[in-house]
Amino acid sequence: MRVLVVDHPLVAHKLTVLRDKDTPSPVFRQLTEELVTLLAYEATRNVRVEPVNIETPVTATVGTGLVKPTPLVVPILRAGLGMLEGMTRLVPTAEVGFLGMARNEETLEAITYAERLPDDLTGRQVFVLDPMLATGGTLREAIKFLFQRGAAEIVCICLLGAPEGLSILEKELADANVTIVLASIDERLDEKAYIVPGLGDAGDRLYGVVN
Ligand code: URA
Repeated sequence: MRVLVVDHPLVAHKLTVLRDKDTPSPVFRQLTEELVTLLAYEATRNVRVEPVNIETPVTATVGTGLVKPTPLVVPILRAGLGMLEGMTRLVPTAEVGFLGMARNEETLEAITYAERLPDDLTGRQVFVLDPMLATGGTLREAIKFLFQRGAAEIVCICLLGAPEGLSILEKELADANVTIVLASIDERLDEKAYIVPGLGDAGDRLYGVVN
C-alpha cells in the first residue's frame, strides 16, 4: 500500500476553507468538487493508457488514449457522492458504481447497505471516493469487497486521514495494490472517532443532518 499526500498551496487553501465551521453547505460542496479534481490529477498519474493513431490536420501521429474498460469510479455513499462530480470532470469517460456504507456510531463497524457495481471487476482499475479516512473501517471493507470482485488495483481518494486509520490499513494491506491519496493527514481521532482538527461530519456538511 502506498500513501500520497498532495502537497500544493491550492489544496491547502481549499482545505482550510472546508475546515472552517462557518463555511456554508453550498460553498462546502463546490470546494469539495474543486479539491477532488486537484487530488484526482495526482491519483490518476498511473491510469492505464495505450498508444492511439490519429490524424491531425497536418499529419498522422501517435497519441494517448485511455485503455478500455475505462476506470471504474466508486463513491461511497453518502459523503463520497459529494466527490463524484470533481472526479468525473477529470475522467468523463469513467464508469461509475456505487457502494452504500455507514458506520455504526456505537461499535464503529462499517455496514454495507447498498451496492450497484459490475459483478466482475477482473483486472479493473478502481478509484474509490470517501472523504474521511477515520478508523479505516469503511475503506477496509470497501477495498476487500472490490478485490473479491476481481479488481486489480484500487486508488482511494480522501480529503482527510487520521494516523490511526492509516496505520490499520497499512498493516492489513501492506502487500496490496492500493494507493491512498489525501489532502492531509491530521493529528488524531477523538473519543467519538472524529478526525482532529478535521472538518466535522462530511456528510452533514455536504447534505445537512439526517437522523
Ligand atoms: N466521518 C466524518 O464525516 N468525519 C470525521 O471526522 C470522521 C468520520
